[in-house]
Amino acid sequence: MEQCNIVFIGGGNMAGSIIGGLLQGDCPAKNIYICDPDQTKLDAFQQRYGVNISTYNDQFVGLADVLVLAVKPQMMHQVVEGLASKMSHETLLVSVAAGIREKNIGRWLGKEHAIVRCMPNTPSLVQTGASALYANNQVSDAQRDLAESLMRTVGIVVWLEHEAQMDAVTAVSGSGPAYFFLVMEAMQKSAEQLGLSPDMSRLLIIQTALGAAKMAMESEEGVGELRHRVTSPGGTTEQGIRALQAGALEETFDEALQAACRRSKELAKILGDT
Ligand SMILES: NC(=O)c1ccc[n+]([C@@H]2O[C@H](COP(=O)([O-])OP(=O)(O)OC[C@H]3O[C@@H](n4cnc5c(N)ncnc54)[C@H](OP(=O)(O)O)[C@@H]3O)[C@@H](O)[C@H]2O)c1
Repeated sequence: MEQCNIVFIGGGNMAGSIIGGLLQGDCPAKNIYICDPDQTKLDAFQQRYGVNISTYNDQFVGLADVLVLAVKPQMMHQVVEGLASKMSHETLLVSVAAGIREKNIGRWLGKEHAIVRCMPNTPSLVQTGASALYANNQVSDAQRDLAESLMRTVGIVVWLEHEAQMDAVTAVSGSGPAYFFLVMEAMQKSAEQLGLSPDMSRLLIIQTALGAAKMAMESEEGVGELRHRVTSPGGTTEQGIRALQAGALEETFDEALQAACRRSKELAKILGDT
């Protein structure tokens, strides 16, 4: 990775978090290039990370071993068509755009090409992301390794065998941070009603969420077993859990994930037709 040229198209949140991760991590990639229409944003990137910048998307494309498409999904068609003629066949294209199918990127390029689709999530911004990757059949083993080490700089990585699984991933980890934020919001409201100050409630709830996630990550037991262990018969947790289950928590989460997955499929259809 140290030797390779990574070119980012779109200098927003996601590009910023990956670049930050690359430069902080164990394998700093020295040759980073970034293209975005906003010169002020580019200047900030250059000042902070010493990367090469341009307001022209095609400026560095010929140099790219990896070209990361980090623009909004609605911009993808235009951006991909604009890059097609200058992109080497050897370049690996990594798209982080939600809902844009690999076959549509290929169609907009006008040729078969090595493409990795990636669904990251917002905790990537603090290098604690969860990314799912899918490679088309043009991607070599070396390119798979490259894509994986790129996304590992902002968190964990899983590989999908079928692109269709991206819709489920979008519903689970793509949208997932918002579900946990909602749970934290609801807990915070109740904590305040129970008489704790907003600051104290916030701190206790965030640390509890972090601690529970860390325990679940580090434990060899499943989350069900961890829950049973802290739920003593006749105790306080048991009462809380009973109330949550009486409110159909599990069924509600099932409906939420199904709805998000359906929407991901609908959006992919709309965006792919552009
Ligand atoms: N943020 C996340 O956690 C997250 C999670 C999963 C997937 N993604 C995907 O990551 C992609 C980027 O998301 P983001 O949150 O980083 O969005 P963002 O912050 O809006 O970044 C996109 C950047 O692209 C720039 N841009 C607009 N048109 C361009 C063009 N023609 N050529 C080059 N750059 C252009 C935008 O500039 P302006 O602001 O001036 O328009 C902006 O700086 C999206 O496709 C999204 O689906 C993001």
